[in-house]
Amino acid sequence: MSIEVIRDLRGLHSSIARHRNGPLNTAASLAIVPTMGAIHEAHEALVVEAKKNANIVLATIFVNPMQFGENEDLDKYPRSEEEDIKRLEDKGCDIVYIPENKTMYPDDFDLTINVPKLSSVLCGKERKNHFQGVATVVAKLLLQSGADYAIFGEKDYQQLLIITSLVKDLDIPCKIVPISTVRDNNGLAISSRNQYLNPKQINIANNINIIMTEAAKNFYNVDINETISFVRKSIEKVGINKIDYIEIRDNHNLENISNNNKSNARLFIAVYIDEVRLIDNIKL
Ligand code: PAF
Repeated sequence: MSIEVIRDLRGLHSSIARHRNGPLNTAASLAIVPTMGAIHEAHEALVVEAKKNANIVLATIFVNPMQFGENEDLDKYPRSEEEDIKRLEDKGCDIVYIPENKTMYPDDFDLTINVPKLSSVLCGKERKNHFQGVATVVAKLLLQSGADYAIFGEKDYQQLLIITSLVKDLDIPCKIVPISTVRDNNGLAISSRNQYLNPKQINIANNINIIMTEAAKNFYNVDINETISFVRKSIEKVGINKIDYIEIRDNHNLENISNNNKSNARLFIAVYIDEVRLIDNIKL
């Protein structure tokens, strides 16, 4: 069966109702894969995971203006709708929802969802309001679709924790299913922004995972600050000179951890290779 392309809320509701009451003849379950398009292997892995969890898979493509800061790349964000639909269909997606801005944010729209504690650190420090935009749009997509499952990658680990928290606090009956970061053959975490990198910059970026893995090997033998300083020095040595953050925080609540209790530690990195901002994280 070919993928159904839906652009408005009414269409979404009727498509989901049709699929839920379809040939399975039972209340079929629905998994959602929210994306901003520019579909790549990591999104495809989300769809594969969605299919394992539910009978119907809905992907969404919406470049959410609310999560971009004033000087960020909203206008430049890669858009490839036709190719995206094809890739989603090839992976077995049933419905793709591509709402317009005014469907998500009508003129009188006046809501922001904030998850303040989890949003105040790491990417939230530099990118003010970014996570409010993410939380608001994801809450809307979950409620619009009534999905039973939502699949998110661990590459955006802070986003994953924020969404898990908002779903719990708003009693949204949707199970958040995480998947491990999808990496290319060189270990580089797959991201839409990788396409901005030229071959020389990719060679530099490939070091990020190597350095993180090396740091993880030694983590339990040395002081936390030593691990951070090792990562910082190694990152600078390979030619990355703009570091947004290198931090080690608790895996569940993003709080600082101490040398006395290093379980649940995760290493988080955000760096710029020239103009391109890359993030990555690894469980220690
Ligand atoms: O991770 C993303 O692509 C976006 O932040 C998301 C979850 C689709 C919300 O716009």
